[in-house]
Amino acid sequence: MHADIVVLPGDGIGPEVTAATVEVLQAVAHRFGHHFTLHEHLIGGAAIDATGQPLPDATLAAARDADAVLLGAVGGPKWSAPEAPVRPEQGLLAIRKALGLYANLRPVRPHAAAAGASPIKSHLLAGVDLLVVRELTGGIYFGDKTRSETQATDLCRYSVEEVERVVRRACLLARGRRGHVTSVDKANVLETSRLWREVATRVVRDEFPDITLEHQLVDSMAMHLLAKPRAYDVIVTENMFGDILTDEASMLAGSLGLLPSASLGEGCVGMYEPIHGSAPDIAGRGIANPVGTILSAALLLRYSLGLSQEAACIEQAVDAVLDAGVFTADLAPHDAARSTREATDAIVQQLALASEQAA
Ligand code: IPM
Ligand code: MN
Repeated sequence: MHADIVVLPGDGIGPEVTAATVEVLQAVAHRFGHHFTLHEHLIGGAAIDATGQPLPDATLAAARDADAVLLGAVGGPKWSAPEAPVRPEQGLLAIRKALGLYANLRPVRPHAAAAGASPIKSHLLAGVDLLVVRELTGGIYFGDKTRSETQATDLCRYSVEEVERVVRRACLLARGRRGHVTSVDKANVLETSRLWREVATRVVRDEFPDITLEHQLVDSMAMHLLAKPRAYDVIVTENMFGDILTDEASMLAGSLGLLPSASLGEGCVGMYEPIHGSAPDIAGRGIANPVGTILSAALLLRYSLGLSQEAACIEQAVDAVLDAGVFTADLAPHDAARSTREATDAIVQQLALASEQAA
C-alpha cells in the first residue's frame, strides 16, 4: 500500500527518536512491499524559532492531508520562560484539538526483561496488561485561563458529548480485550467528575451491557495502579488525570521511554507519539530510548493504516531486542547502556527475522 505520513520531530530528543522510527518504518515498507512517503514538518519550539508559531499553518495543513502523523516531543528550557508569549506545548495541544483527536490510547504492558528497571516488585508486574484511554481535547487543558498579578485560574469543563464519545471508545476497545473498564474521576469533589461518572454509568448501562464498569477516585487509583496493576484492563479518564496516571504507569514498564500512544478521533487520521517529553537534559547525545516512538509507529500501522501484521512485527522485534538485554541508558547502568543507534539497529535487524517468519 501507499501511505502519506507526516513526521513532526519537535524538540529535545524528538528528532532523535523520530529519526530512529523512520528507519524502522522504512524497513517495514521494504520488507512488506509498501511505500511510505514521509514528510517532515515543524512543531513546538523548533517551529517557534523558525516561524514564531508553535503550530505553523503548513504543518496543520500537511497533517490534515496525511494518512497519519508521527510526533517526537515538544518543549524545552529555551522556550519556558514564564513571560514567554508562545509556548511549544501550545502547538501540541492545538494540533490534537484541530484534528479532533479526543481519545489518547496508552497501552502499558511491562516487559519481563525490563522488570529489573521497575521500582515495583516483579511479582506484581507479571501479567500486567492495561490500556489507559485518556480524554485528550477537553478539561482543564483547554478551559479559559486568567492571570492577574495576584491570582490565576484554569477552567475545567466537560460536556456530556465529550464524555460519551471517549467512554464509548474505551468500551469498544475493552470488547477486544477482557471486557473490564475502570472509569477514574474525582466525583467526591469535582462537578465535572460527577458529570463524568453519570455519563459513563449511563453509556455502559444502555450501550455496553457486556462490559463491566467500575468507578475509582483518582487518588486511590494512583495507589491501586502500583499495588495491584494486574486488576486493571481498560482505564478511561479525563485529560489531566490521564496525563498523570500514565507517567505513573510507565514505572510498571520500567521507563517512561518505553511507552507509546495513539491519539484518535472519528476518522482514520491519527497522531502517534511516545508518552515521554523532550528530555532536554539528554538531547543531542544519541542516548535516548527510541522504543516509545517505535512502538507508536506500530500503533500507527495498526490503527491508521490497518497493517496489523506489520504492527505485530515491530512489537515482536522490540520484544526480542529487550529480551536480548539491549537497553538504553534509562534502563541500564551507564557502562552497559546502548545508544539510540545501537538499539535502533538491533530492532531493524530483528524486524528482518520477524517479517521472514510472517511471510
Ligand atoms: C503528554 C505531555 C503533554 C501533555 C505536554 C507536553 C503538553 O505531557 O503528551 O503526556 O500534557 O499532554
Ligand atoms: Mn504527559
